[in-house]
Amino acid sequence: MKNLNIETVIWECQFDELSQEERHLLESAIDATRRSYAPYSKYKVGAALLLENGVEIIGCNQENAAYPAGLCAERTALFSAGVQYPDVAVTMLAIAARTPDGELQSEPVTPCGSCRQVIIETETRFGHQIRILLYGLNKIYVMDGIKNLMPLSFTEF
Ligand code: THU
Repeated sequence: MKNLNIETVIWECQFDELSQEERHLLESAIDATRRSYAPYSKYKVGAALLLENGVEIIGCNQENAAYPAGLCAERTALFSAGVQYPDVAVTMLAIAARTPDGELQSEPVTPCGSCRQVIIETETRFGHQIRILLYGLNKIYVMDGIKNLMPLSFTEF
């Protein structure tokens, strides 16, 4: 038997350690939490992504009384980018969330499994790794590529 030892690299940072572009994208994700439609969970998630052509696209979670019909913030942003700019790679994705008391979450928000799957498809589709910024009031996680959150992912058959 062999241990594969798959490595994940995540930088833990403070806001002021990030580049201006990264800080701006995080601020857009934080702003986007205010557009969230989350009457059921009251957990307001915002996402902002940057395209290779410099365009920024935001998303936020959209819930529904029929729960599974809703969609996460990350996927609203990624699918919106796919509709508006089908040929342009995504280079960066920032995520932030507010807890039901309306405060920004203290610990970094981490994307759900389905969103991770859509992120990996976006990376594969354009052959371009996405820098991912996960916001928390206490710390921010930064990583290059969703592979860091999703080893042995399913990308082709
Ligand atoms: N949610 C997101 O929008 N993104 C995540 O990364 C985690 C979960 C949403 C889905 C649902 O509207 C609410 O948060 C509670 O799960």
